Amino acid sequence: MRGAAKLAVPVRRTLERMGAYHGTIEGRAGKLRLDFNENTVGCSPAVRAALARMTRQDVAMYPEYQAATRRLAQFFGVRPAELLLTNGVDEGLRLVFDAFVDPGSRVLLAEPTFVMYRFYAALAGAKVTALRYDGAMRFPVEKVLDALGRRPRVLFIANPNNPTGTLVGKSALGRILKAAPRTLVVVDEAYFEFSGLTVLPWIRRHANLVVTRTFSKAAGLAGLRLGCVIAHRAVIDVLRKACSPFPVNTAALVAAEAATRDVRYIRNYVREIRDGRRELEQALMRLAIPFFPSAANFLLVDFGSHAPRLLANLARQGILLRDRRSDFNRVGYVRITLGTRAQTRRLIGAIEKSW
Ligand SMILES: Cc1ncc(COP(=O)(O)O)c(C=O)c1O
Repeated sequence: MRGAAKLAVPVRRTLERMGAYHGTIEGRAGKLRLDFNENTVGCSPAVRAALARMTRQDVAMYPEYQAATRRLAQFFGVRPAELLLTNGVDEGLRLVFDAFVDPGSRVLLAEPTFVMYRFYAALAGAKVTALRYDGAMRFPVEKVLDALGRRPRVLFIANPNNPTGTLVGKSALGRILKAAPRTLVVVDEAYFEFSGLTVLPWIRRHANLVVTRTFSKAAGLAGLRLGCVIAHRAVIDVLRKACSPFPVNTAALVAAEAATRDVRYIRNYVREIRDGRRELEQALMRLAIPFFPSAANFLLVDFGSHAPRLLANLARQGILLRDRRSDFNRVGYVRITLGTRAQTRRLIGAIEKSW
């Protein structure tokens, strides 16, 4: 292909200011995928069976959301009016910006955190107040409470946080919600199944609270894209207004319904991950490699100056980890998604050989 011609059509200013698009990573199939916090074995067989039962008519029709919303609302213990299904949590986050953030309005984050908050903020032309986790990866509660005084439109808290794996406790979240009645507080519980901590029941008490959940992680539906935004119905009404008519495909609805009927599968997977996490932690302690305690299906590890060589060695063996140096401005930090115990043992063996 020839070099791209300079585009004569003006591009949105916020987009022009953003760095180059870094595409997603390709060629991961068949490898030990410990780089994207996905389910490393696959969805429940019950999900596969439900997808196989889809008819040609099901595929030909535009999706209908009422029944699935009712079923999933019941699963989460909320009312259908308090739940919006989105194309992954990613799209739910984008909707929050579309509905609540004007160009120039302020959003609040504590970094390092899930990179899409900053990405959508840049796209929306929002001003970002970015606080930092400290060296021990503690969430800066007091600084957040202070920064709420400037009335940011939205505060994003991933809980557990990606990539640190740390949790903000309920008492801190309660203080934050009370201190910020005019700020939408998004508590992104993408890894809830692994942590067990949720503020979902608070949505009726705090009209400024938005909780997100995903079927991409524990349930293993990342390829189908289904996120859930759960909030006071007044918030959901606003988000729905900004939503495209068919954001979620029928296969995702069928798969999610089947996943919610097979909670045992998720429960067993979570147990496997927790056991694997313990084994990996013990191995890292034996090797005197620092890591941060995690409530999620991944572990943030500091391999120091060995990280680039280790990552390359493991990649050659088909084991993919995620380099997080860009979050900390220094080589060493690597995020490792946990898999089954057998997968974790394979990983430990490879680390031991490369170390
Ligand atoms: C904190 C957090 N939120 C949301 C997502 C994205 O979820 P989804 O696949 O539903 O878009 C991720 C994925 O890595 C994440 O780490």
